[in-house]
Amino acid sequence: MAEEKEAVETQEAEQPTPGLVRAPLRGEVSRRGFLSVLGLGWAVFAGALAAVLGAMGRFMFPNVLFEPPQEFKAGYPEDFAVDAVDERFAASFGVWIVRESTGFYALSTVCTHLGCTPNWLSADEKFKCPCHGSGFIKTGINIEGPAPRPLERYRIVLAEDGQIQIDKNTKYQQEKGQWELDGAYLYYA
Ligand code: FES
Repeated sequence: MAEEKEAVETQEAEQPTPGLVRAPLRGEVSRRGFLSVLGLGWAVFAGALAAVLGAMGRFMFPNVLFEPPQEFKAGYPEDFAVDAVDERFAASFGVWIVRESTGFYALSTVCTHLGCTPNWLSADEKFKCPCHGSGFIKTGINIEGPAPRPLERYRIVLAEDGQIQIDKNTKYQQEKGQWELDGAYLYYA
């Protein structure tokens, strides 16, 4: 009888009071704690996976800068008007091609002050930089504003097929006397 009573008392002691949640005992992990640990694990795994996939993506599709070729053909001499600045290659290659009665030269479109792109103002017969107001006459010589030197010229020759060929790998600077060198001017009458 005494044993029965003791069993009932033990059973009652183990029954949780309705409405109360039993606190986990030491060494015991609650269901909510277990789920949050599991969620954290998955988040760490997903983050690591995303980082690995991102690195793989960068490896397979690297950032490549596509620059226009440094050498190009600009067409036949007859395609150019005498005493005119040809702007067809300014946007794509950064070059103005100027034809005079005696020949051609290729001017860089990079302002020698801080590198902006001047505009050709045909009415004023000059290149005018919109950034700080430097001006250059048709030959490329600087005449106003902060630009410290003339525009640079690029190598210009006649290719075997008779077209004008520009090579931007070779530059000529007037202040160094390089406009007199072969390739800085294409004589063509
Ligand atoms: S960059 Fe052309 S004037 Fe300054």
